[in-house]
Amino acid sequence: MLDIFTLGEEVLKEKCQPVTKFDNALKVLVDAMFETMDDADGVGLAAPQVGVELRLFVINIHGVERRAYINPQIIETSIETEIAEEGCLSIPGVWHDVQRPARVTIQAQDVEGKAFQVKAEGLLARAIQHENDHLNGVLFIDRLNDEEREKMVKAYEKRSKSRRKK
Ligand code: NI
Repeated sequence: MLDIFTLGEEVLKEKCQPVTKFDNALKVLVDAMFETMDDADGVGLAAPQVGVELRLFVINIHGVERRAYINPQIIETSIETEIAEEGCLSIPGVWHDVQRPARVTIQAQDVEGKAFQVKAEGLLARAIQHENDHLNGVLFIDRLNDEEREKMVKAYEKRSKSRRKK
């Protein structure tokens, strides 16, 4: 299991580097990310959240998608947007509505380096955009206005302080 880095850690603000080696170390990392995501009951986990500055994330949406996306690129987004509540394993305990394109087409590679493309909508489209943002150092709270973001950060800090006291 890997440690999940949380709000305030520098690695969450970094622009990640492309994966160039499709070797066994990559497979080990991806497996560990799946395990960590499952253990935390997440629908997605990006490499910087486990302290690795590489362009890859894993997604698990029960009955829809369970896959690693390596060197992902969103190549098409719908003009139509949707608003839905999001949370993040790196900002545990807080959720907020986020507006995003309703549909995306993404191109990526699997652990072998083989390219694939996915047309996504609904929760999968949202998860893909949320995780892809992580690879550019962007958190879902960065998609909110200043006032909303401050509220989220305060709620998160209050929560983590009270948890530390226990
Ligand atoms: Ni997240």
